[in-house]
Amino acid sequence: MRYRKFARTGWDVSEIGYGMWGMGAWSGSDDAESLGSLQRAIDLGCNFFDTAWVYGNGHSEKLLGRVLRTNSAKKLFVATKVPPKNQAWPAPANSRLDENYPPQHIAEYVDLSLRNLGLESLHLIQLHTWNDSWLEDSRITQAIEKLKATGKVCAVGISLNRWQPWNGVQAVRAGLVDSVQVVYNIFDQNPEDELFPACREKNVAVIARVPFDEGSLTGTLTASSKWADGDWRNSYFSGGKLPETLKRVDALRLLLRNTEQDKMPGDGASEGMTLPELALRFILSNPDVSTTIPGMRKTRNVEANLQVSGRGTLSVHAPAYLPADLLAELRQHRWERKLPPEHFPVK
Ligand SMILES: NC(=O)c1ccc[n+]([C@@H]2O[C@H](COP(=O)([O-])OP(=O)(O)OC[C@H]3O[C@@H](n4cnc5c(N)ncnc54)[C@H](OP(=O)(O)O)[C@@H]3O)[C@@H](O)[C@H]2O)c1
Repeated sequence: MRYRKFARTGWDVSEIGYGMWGMGAWSGSDDAESLGSLQRAIDLGCNFFDTAWVYGNGHSEKLLGRVLRTNSAKKLFVATKVPPKNQAWPAPANSRLDENYPPQHIAEYVDLSLRNLGLESLHLIQLHTWNDSWLEDSRITQAIEKLKATGKVCAVGISLNRWQPWNGVQAVRAGLVDSVQVVYNIFDQNPEDELFPACREKNVAVIARVPFDEGSLTGTLTASSKWADGDWRNSYFSGGKLPETLKRVDALRLLLRNTEQDKMPGDGASEGMTLPELALRFILSNPDVSTTIPGMRKTRNVEANLQVSGRGTLSVHAPAYLPADLLAELRQHRWERKLPPEHFPVK
């Protein structure tokens, strides 16, 4: 496992961290399997864990707490999130700070998360949604300063609304936060436009989330993919979004030459790069990223993903059968998306 600086905090975090939403709140999760996968990840050198109170109303945090206790000799970084008081994802555009994160609410949820995790201090607390307009309310700065002063949190970050990487640039430039968490993957490349340069300038860490576009970039979805009732992925991939996504995933498969008709005996392509590897290496090729946090419940996914760290960036170490400038090719697969008006739950 390779490690990167978590910007101004100076922490050395594993460049592949651990996303813990699925095991707290998605259908088909199994605690024993999740705990085994977390342990395997730690054994393989993963040291950065992203959870949130809302991932199963504390369930994901409690799972992490159990793993922390059995690995108390290791330095493991814990990042969790305060849910908005109004439970609105993404943050409604015209809402006020008070409706989302009144200071007292932030303090209460830090205490709840500490209890769930069995800790006295968190490495990183993140606000689970964000609007740059809240910077106008000076209480946010005071709340952050107070949190740090209590010693209950070491660093404070914001998790940006899905597909709104621009809505956080002002917070970074104002010096308010130590990290930003943002959707960044082969499809969602737009954090590169404004957000990453601002983070570079202000020495703010970048947590690249949803590396697999909620699963599509693993190549495991099909036209008939469906999830249990209540699983939010039914809405994420609803209304024509699944076929559109699959078309784009197929284009990436073609690029990798790992469709059945493209495999030629002895050309190396059949043993070549998988789609999940391509997805992770695209992200890790960007030095602005401190860590990326794939969601993983299955141990086989942990093993497949964590070994990608050693393979280096795409620009330097792409297999010879792939296009010479693979990163330039991947720029063509950028997909500009906007939130639909009905606002599916996008935690
Ligand atoms: N607003 C926010 O702050 C916010 C929003 C979304 C996500 N996040 C964070 O970002 C993390 C990552 O996003 P995500 O979990 O939503 O989606 P994701 O990482 O894009 O995709 C997760 C899915 O990919 C599967 N997977 C992982 N590695 C695989 C592999 N090598 N081969 C095949 N399938 C593989 C997982 O399966 P299994 O689970 O079955 O192993 C899971 O179904 C979350 O867990 C959470 O910590 C934060």
